[in-house]
Amino acid sequence: MDVHYWNEFADEYDEHVIDAFTYGRSKMIGQQVKRFASLEKDVADFGCGPGKMLPYLSEKFRTVYGYDFSDKLLESAHKRCADLKNVHIEQADLSLPVDHLPMVDVIVSLNAVLMPDPELRMNFLRGMASRLNPGGYLILNVPSVESLLFSYFRETEWYRKEGSSPREAEERVDASYIIQPNRTAQGVFIRGTEPTKHYLREELIVLAREEMKLEALDVLKMDYDWKIEMEDDNVPEWMGEPYPWDWILIAKKS
Ligand SMILES: C[S@@+](CC[C@H](N)C(=O)[O-])C[C@H]1O[C@@H](n2cnc3c(N)ncnc32)[C@H](O)[C@@H]1O
Repeated sequence: MDVHYWNEFADEYDEHVIDAFTYGRSKMIGQQVKRFASLEKDVADFGCGPGKMLPYLSEKFRTVYGYDFSDKLLESAHKRCADLKNVHIEQADLSLPVDHLPMVDVIVSLNAVLMPDPELRMNFLRGMASRLNPGGYLILNVPSVESLLFSYFRETEWYRKEGSSPREAEERVDASYIIQPNRTAQGVFIRGTEPTKHYLREELIVLAREEMKLEALDVLKMDYDWKIEMEDDNVPEWMGEPYPWDWILIAKKS
């Protein structure tokens, strides 16, 4: 999932990518942003892509910075924010040192720290935390390992309810997201065509403390609809709560 991958995606991004800000149930990301928003604070979106959240942040903060390494996605972000005077968009590879980026009071990052390479991932996480002012907050949205396995469980139940035996139902599940065992052990699963890092709840708490030197305040579930997770409009009515979810880590710099 390098810059070329994201550049190639740019034209179809709005149509095909299910972003957390737009598609999360209960507008959870917006709710969490509101908790820490103020017109006296500055915010940055790390991995802003085409900038879907930037207009919302622009209304709620003094200054908004949007960073991404994909020049094509940033073109969309520029268009979206053309009239927003307090939004500053900059190309940056966030897995490289980010000491030149301004310090802010709140950082939001939605499904951007997905790279399977652990060094690039840790650099991104540490760099991001380093740009927070003391007392600042991080809102980090990432895919959940637990949710992915729970979805397999629900899919199995679906087949059983359709008449398959328990054993047949387990065999019918398309487990093609799961690749080599050592990748699975690290929470890396194939989504679409790409190996994508997923996180455990407890892993996020440890990463906040050990790598980002932040205090984890909450790890919240951000629910999606089953139709989105299963990529199937015929998901049965009974498949309601609990819904599939991403994790949202809320962490504070002391
Ligand atoms: C799934 S998209 C999410 C975009 C946006 N946050 C949203 O929710 O619509 C992941 C984004 O992370 C960006 N990204 C991934 N690795 C990056 C890196 N090392 N530096 C900067 N941006 C990166 C990609 O270019 C892409 O825009």
